[in-house]
Amino acid sequence: MTAPPPKTAPPPVNRPLLPSAAQIAPYLERIDASRWYTNRGPLLVELEQRLCALAGLPEQALTLTASGTAALEAAILATAGPASAARPHALIPSYTFPATALAAERCGYRPWFVDVDPATMAVDPRALARHPQLARCGVILPVAAYGMRPDLAAYERLRAETGIAVVVDAAAAFEQVLAHRLISEQVPLALSFHATKSFSTGEGGAVLWGAAEGYAEISRIINFGFLEGRETRSPGLNGKLSDYHAAVGLAMLDIWPERQAAQAGVAALYRRSAADCGLDGALLLTPEVSSAYALLRCRDASQAAGVTERLTRRGMDWRRWYEGGVHRMRHFAALPRDALPGTEELAATLIGLPTAIDLSRDALDPVLRAAAG
Ligand SMILES: Cc1ncc(COP(=O)(O)O)c(C=O)c1O
Repeated sequence: MTAPPPKTAPPPVNRPLLPSAAQIAPYLERIDASRWYTNRGPLLVELEQRLCALAGLPEQALTLTASGTAALEAAILATAGPASAARPHALIPSYTFPATALAAERCGYRPWFVDVDPATMAVDPRALARHPQLARCGVILPVAAYGMRPDLAAYERLRAETGIAVVVDAAAAFEQVLAHRLISEQVPLALSFHATKSFSTGEGGAVLWGAAEGYAEISRIINFGFLEGRETRSPGLNGKLSDYHAAVGLAMLDIWPERQAAQAGVAALYRRSAADCGLDGALLLTPEVSSAYALLRCRDASQAAGVTERLTRRGMDWRRWYEGGVHRMRHFAALPRDALPGTEELAATLIGLPTAIDLSRDALDPVLRAAAG
């Protein structure tokens, strides 16, 4: 009797692959030799420089941080400062990962949830410029959902028209930064380099900001509010990235071109498989969104319910990455908000499908067949 062919497990919704121990080792040896483990060590400085060069940005346009959340906190404190009694609110889209709202809370703000346009998955800057709460708002936090390209020029106009600080949560938008050299003097972007993102240091993040004082400001804020000397001069936090994390990032940069090609290859497989299943046009993939996501946009909530029911029944992994919007989460449920029809529509119709840099057609075909019904 011949043994049945081994059954491959369905792919998890996200399966990161970071550089191997062997690829990181030469950088770790440099840390062993220098005995400089954190606090702006040589590897961190080198990673900042290489990232700026890769993105075609001036040196010091980017400050590495311990996480994307730390980058958000630092950028809020640098541009808006902590909340005040006169301006207690932060305007935040509900269609996001909770870190956006948590970062605002850590800076003392009370989130006020606003809606997004389902077409762009982003806030409408013109609508926000007329928002009734503006006079009580200290900071506005648009989100580049799934790493889509943020309309930086529109956010700069929003900042100029309202005089209110704007910080873009561009957690997953690193590839858009590279493709479009995104940088602004007025509006900082916060990036995440978490393991699930396309470029990663394991945990990590960065503030991207073109203001002359931006680099020194962020570096001070993430270092307890001091840089030279040890006297705290501003609000701050410990938001530093260690040189160990920088080692992972440097090893990642060494293989970045091959990784980008592999990610584009997976997106091409997805498109072909979707066409074979009659789902062409329904997928959102790189380069429109970050290569860390493969999203199925359903016609309506009832189609989405059918898709998720079939995926679950066949043991396939899927995720609503932004759940039902953060306004539905227990911690945020009592906070003030606008009507959120765009958020509700996206939450009901957008389904995250498995992604990985080494996903094969054999692994993703059954997922799309199940999704198609
Ligand atoms: C939209 C968004 N904002 C913020 C974050 C937080 O980034 P980090 O996990 O690096 O703190 C994430 C992470 O997934 C995110 O997706």
